[in-house]
Amino acid sequence: MKTVFSILVVFIYSFSFSQSYTISSPDKRIRLEFVHTPVGQPTYNLHFQQQAVVSIGALGFLINEDKGFVRHLALVSVDSSFVDNNWEPVWGEERSIRNNYRQLAVTLQQKDEKQLLLRIVFRLFDKGLGFRYEFPQQPNLQYFVVKDELTSFVLGGDHKAWWIPGDYDTNEYPYSVSKLSEVDAFAAGNATEISTRKVFAAKGVQTPLMMKTDKGLYINIHEAALVNYPAMQLEVETGTNAGTVLKSHIVPDAVGNKAYLKAPFNTPWRVINVSDKATDILASRIILNLNEPSAIKNTSWIKPQKFVGVWWEMHVGKSTWDYAGTQNASTTGAEAKPSGKHGATTANVKRYIDFASKNGIQGVLVEGWNTGWEDWFGKWKEEVFDFVTPYPDYDVKELHQYAASKGVKIIMHHETSGSATNYDRRMDSAYRFMKNNGYDAVKTGYVGKIIPRGEWHDGQWMVNHYNRAAEKTAGYEIMLDAHEPVRPTGLHRTWPNWMASEAARGNEFNAWSKGNPPAHETILPFTRLMGGPMDYTPGIFEIKMNAYDPAKKEQVHTTLAKQLALYVTMYSPLQMAADLVENYEKHLDAFEFIKQVAVDWDSTVYLEAEPGSYLTIARKAKGKNDWFIGAITNEAGRTANISFAFLPAGKEYEAIIYKDGKDANWEKNPKAYEIAKVKVNTKSKVPVILAPGGGAAIHIRPL
Ligand code: NOJ
Ligand code: CA
Repeated sequence: MKTVFSILVVFIYSFSFSQSYTISSPDKRIRLEFVHTPVGQPTYNLHFQQQAVVSIGALGFLINEDKGFVRHLALVSVDSSFVDNNWEPVWGEERSIRNNYRQLAVTLQQKDEKQLLLRIVFRLFDKGLGFRYEFPQQPNLQYFVVKDELTSFVLGGDHKAWWIPGDYDTNEYPYSVSKLSEVDAFAAGNATEISTRKVFAAKGVQTPLMMKTDKGLYINIHEAALVNYPAMQLEVETGTNAGTVLKSHIVPDAVGNKAYLKAPFNTPWRVINVSDKATDILASRIILNLNEPSAIKNTSWIKPQKFVGVWWEMHVGKSTWDYAGTQNASTTGAEAKPSGKHGATTANVKRYIDFASKNGIQGVLVEGWNTGWEDWFGKWKEEVFDFVTPYPDYDVKELHQYAASKGVKIIMHHETSGSATNYDRRMDSAYRFMKNNGYDAVKTGYVGKIIPRGEWHDGQWMVNHYNRAAEKTAGYEIMLDAHEPVRPTGLHRTWPNWMASEAARGNEFNAWSKGNPPAHETILPFTRLMGGPMDYTPGIFEIKMNAYDPAKKEQVHTTLAKQLALYVTMYSPLQMAADLVENYEKHLDAFEFIKQVAVDWDSTVYLEAEPGSYLTIARKAKGKNDWFIGAITNEAGRTANISFAFLPAGKEYEAIIYKDGKDANWEKNPKAYEIAKVKVNTKSKVPVILAPGGGAAIHIRPL
């Protein structure tokens, strides 16, 4: 690591005895100023060129011990350093990531007798700022309870924001777009229809929070490396400065405390990405850079992959998770009578294995294979699933053998029904069962209220649970995909086996609720995906649910071509081809794109983007000369004028364009698509028409 230590700070003693220290980003466009006020309070300012991003944002803590860290703090020392190096992720959007920042670290000390110490470390990158608090080892602070974190973001105005309500328990909301002053979290769309809401305030929102100023500056607030601490949500100020101040609101536990810590301790990083280009927000790697390197030494067993699954058929009501077909029945397993609608039967799973094997898809997810589904939903019951007992019509051994003979892996499913305590107790037996039966990836789920009762999905206790699951699965060489966890904060750098999470409103909502509006997928990369890959489950070809039942009104709010584009725009090293295999059989020409598209990349070029409107991304497949493009739009149709300048000069390629048909429309005609072939090189510019709610997917291969 190239690290240059130097003292860059400038002392500015003003008449009021404020002390301020300034650093600039390596490209000099962003400026961070730490200001120690005359009353001994730590604050900070952030500028992008001449525009204020944050002005006099508060820093500090209330802790149970005493006065905490608010005012009357002496400034003990200030130092700065510079880092510029590169590192290689195990998998990712690019092969090599540059970590380049200037650091300013300040140490503060209480002036009273306890003289507690607090360090604040700022890292300023070209695309934004990260800062965290550090409680050093010290004689007068050992175990302590955080009552509140005082970090605030004093914005330069009442910005436009893409937000979901500040809910401790779920992030499965559609996004609202409004001025910050107009946030009304209580009025915002229904959450999950399957979980309990705990929206903490009418003016509460979750991170990653995407904002745009009147002057066209893009600002994104999130956090990195959420370890042993609750998630940060944000409260929007009301009153005279309505909408211009965001205050951190860390999620409490069952008795109202925020975090139980022991010094030395470092908090997660608070991260502000800022740029005058929306594409820079997507290209930022600050959150990854602020996470610790891989804790797993041998990572050869971690394999980016695509998978199909006995899954969507339950969501659309064609089959059931449970064997007896009677949710709430008191009998399970062998005592129960089969309903004939059970999805996870040996024969049905074989059908998916056959399809996967024929089409080069590595995994088959199977849900509803184990007992408990009769009695899991909405009960807040501690003991439901044991994660090792299959239903009588699911033959674990036979399927293990069958999948192996076809070169396919079955992906395990562990629905915990929110009973994390039960899952904790059973993790070892569940993971051993997996290894003994040929499974090396698991999808977990946390539907419903959490047990221990009174804890929330986003509190410290559950954050520790999700992280423990990542560490435990790593110990067993198991890849992890978590549904309903706290939203990610870049921990997949440290635990590269934690390949994806849901943690937002996924495609499943289109099967059984009012769904995800056409703009949804143009917002997610600027919000949820800032923290890490999402298991969105794209690839639904049978767009309207009346295909399964004429009475059904639900539908996917995109065209079929847009579903293909999501494999590129919705980054994940674990991508599901979510539809039923029989639906793919009907459109094998379109399925060819899913078959071909890569899930791991050498490089990524963000061609154009505007949150809530459109997004075009090009990616180069890892270790190959093939490129893939995804272009999507919201409910308004548009033409994506795609420049192929990202291609190396002097080489010719064929581009296979999977696009919306002439009269395609997400609502009226979603399944109309065309496949065209054109020759392209670095000088090509190709206009591609995207239908309302539409998209295009392009496979570019060398000639
Ligand atoms: C919600 C998950 O997001 C979904 O993928 C899963 O099928 C159900 N829970 C049942 O576990
Ligand atoms: Ca879910």
